[in-house]
Amino acid sequence: MTTNKKAGGLAGVSAGETALCTVGKEGAGLTYRGYDIYDLADNASFEEVAFLLLHGHLPNRAELKAYISKIISLRGLPDALSKVLEMIPAHAHPMDVLRTGVSLLGNIEPEGDFDNQHDVADRLLACLPSMLLYWHRFHTDGTRIDVETDDDSVAGHFLHVLHDKPPSELHRQSLNTTLILYAEHEFNASTFAARVITGTLSDMHSAVSGAIGALRGPLHGGANEAAMELIQKFSTAGEATAGVQQMLVDKEKIMGFGHRVYTTSDPRNSVNKKMSKILSDEVGDTRLYAISEAIEKVMWDEKKLFANADFFAASVYHFMGIPTYLFTPIFVCSRITGWAAHVIEQRANNKLIRPAADYVGPDLQKYVALDDR
Ligand code: COA
Repeated sequence: MTTNKKAGGLAGVSAGETALCTVGKEGAGLTYRGYDIYDLADNASFEEVAFLLLHGHLPNRAELKAYISKIISLRGLPDALSKVLEMIPAHAHPMDVLRTGVSLLGNIEPEGDFDNQHDVADRLLACLPSMLLYWHRFHTDGTRIDVETDDDSVAGHFLHVLHDKPPSELHRQSLNTTLILYAEHEFNASTFAARVITGTLSDMHSAVSGAIGALRGPLHGGANEAAMELIQKFSTAGEATAGVQQMLVDKEKIMGFGHRVYTTSDPRNSVNKKMSKILSDEVGDTRLYAISEAIEKVMWDEKKLFANADFFAASVYHFMGIPTYLFTPIFVCSRITGWAAHVIEQRANNKLIRPAADYVGPDLQKYVALDDR
């Protein structure tokens, strides 16, 4: 019996339908509900994109105002959750903190029937940054921060609570744009995990906890942290060129490069790269951006591999003073919109997701008594 090599990792296999997103589709590229990602990145707020994904249309002025007010009102953390966040060790990875936080919230505020699924999605969108940064600030400065600010954007709230002061417009806008770019990406690993969990008619907190676990790995969302660690290993662009060439000789994977679906470029990269340059100039960086460009050039010259969304997102966050271990959690604070929209879409036309496997184990054999082995 042989395995179906073509479907290794389900590459190229369609596993269902979605009206949420196209990834690398001929003539469309990356779109959310039919809107081009560049159009959204240039013109929309993350809140408009969240509404678009979750409700199916761009909000009008009144809908957006109501939506933002709702998000602001849902930022608070239940006492029991704050207490648990304080008990999670300072050396934990914040992705584990978020996984536990979402799971605990599912106990404190269980979803129940699915009538209020949009409220659960909005609650998670509003309070993921709160739980992340409450834990972070408690363990880094011993402060029990007030997460209930009146910032009118997720990006503004995140940076305000992280740095204890409202961000500059450039920083708020840059984070807003990366949140838009990270919001949705069809049947990627974490979203597919969420859909598999949803397919059993489980609750949204379980689907999102599972998705966080899938996103955590360096082959998926964890790549932005791994990319930053790589960039910081080098002191000059020349050193980076030689270092990455050697890594390729050693058959190492270079994080932040390559993609399962895209073959020649990731459309999100040009936007992140442009922001990285602007922010590098703002902070007077003379090293990290040049190193990043050098790595990008080697990867293309040597392997025809291109930077994906995670590579320049890493330096964008770094230049805004965000610690590296919060990079993948920021991805969560954005992708919660895509995950929740997929949960809702899956439920609307549910079918248990249970594929088959090609058996490659031993032939039928008889049980052998313990003493005879
Ligand atoms: N660095 C070095 N080589 C890479 C590479 C990378 N980042 N990405 C792919 N390759 C090479 C593989 O070694 C393999 O070469 P081979 O055929 O000689 O063995 C070939 O390209 C195909 O890669 P593979 O890992 O089988 O493709 P995939 O579709 O299963 O994986 C990723 C896609 C994204 C998991 C893969 O490109 C990767 O690991 N990238 C780094 C992690 C990352 O940035 N993830 C975020 C994705 S948005």
